[in-house]
Amino acid sequence: MSLKDFINKNKTEKSQENESLKIEDLTISDTTSDDVSSKDEADHLNNDSTADTESTSLENEAEEEEPDEYAENHDEIAKLKAAQEAASGSSEPGQVVFIPKEHIGELPLLELHDIYKIYKMGSEEVHANDGISVNIFKGEFVAIVGKSGSGKSTLMNIIGALDVPTSGKYLISGQDTSSMKDDELAAIRNKKIGFVFQQYNLLPKDNLLDNVCLPLLYAGVPKAEQKERAMKQLERVGLADKWMQKPAQLSGGQQQRVSIARALAGDPELILADEPTGALDSKTSKQVLGFLKEINEDGNTVVMITHDNSIALEAKRIIRISDGKVVYDGTAEDYAKLI
Ligand SMILES: Nc1ncnc2c1ncn2[C@@H]1O[C@H](COP(=O)(O)OP(=O)(O)O)[C@@H](O)[C@H]1O
Ligand SMILES: [Mg+2]
Repeated sequence: MSLKDFINKNKTEKSQENESLKIEDLTISDTTSDDVSSKDEADHLNNDSTADTESTSLENEAEEEEPDEYAENHDEIAKLKAAQEAASGSSEPGQVVFIPKEHIGELPLLELHDIYKIYKMGSEEVHANDGISVNIFKGEFVAIVGKSGSGKSTLMNIIGALDVPTSGKYLISGQDTSSMKDDELAAIRNKKIGFVFQQYNLLPKDNLLDNVCLPLLYAGVPKAEQKERAMKQLERVGLADKWMQKPAQLSGGQQQRVSIARALAGDPELILADEPTGALDSKTSKQVLGFLKEINEDGNTVVMITHDNSIALEAKRIIRISDGKVVYDGTAEDYAKLI
């Protein structure tokens, strides 16, 4: 089957299933790099705010004990800001960029310099990202945490090379993406970023092996090598014996493990996980977080977006955003003492 047939087959499957499977970020750019499709893609990635409001039955159990994810906790923010001010000597949030001590002197993998994303709504401007400066280094496990509406999805779209900032610079391994065109951004994200989504986004009609092969297929890796590499990743997440099964035959936690295997298959420089436990119960969430920790211990750089402090605390470093600004950037250990 040709690549084009494969993409068409997937598209047909997607419409047949009537599911919002958007894996265009994994597809080759020339078929999807027009403005409309990249907007769809960004909209899709913004879905976590929709998902925030539409809770699944699985989430309902946990929800009653959870604090309100929309209302900002002003006392907490004031405490975090005061701690940052004391640590950096600056009263401007996000002015001084945090560098973990084990990475001092290294070139950052991701560099965000004074990132603004401003949406115009009629005569009003929404500063979704309001001057964000952050450096992330190879081998880190960072959580970006904030309430709904704080600017996480906007920041994730920029970090994931799905969108460009209104102003500011964003460099991935020294390459400036801020002024890249859609097809250049698509090439960057196909090569350098492995995505893990809240809803797994596996192709329902393909078996697990073919699902994990996908990024390798789009990278033009020969078939035999694709299978070999994909199988290794399935082994890594403990699902090699189920390679011929379809996603629907698995539990949510297992499907998320397959999607982690898929994200790893292309050997990307960054694993970007958007609310990876958002659709899972707390026990399964712990297992998935365990896998993210494990792949980080193996040397992968992981950036995880979440609205939940208890999930964020599983990372080594936490960036808290509020109103589009960084109000805390530091170790998870220090963060835990402040919230
Ligand atoms: N495409 C858009 N057009 C206009 N406003 C937007 C758009 N996307 C996000 N926003 C606004 O930007 C702010 C941050 O949104 P978002 O990044 O989705 O936050 P989060 O993911 O933390 O919930 C919100 O006020 C939101 O309404
Ligand atoms: Mg969001």
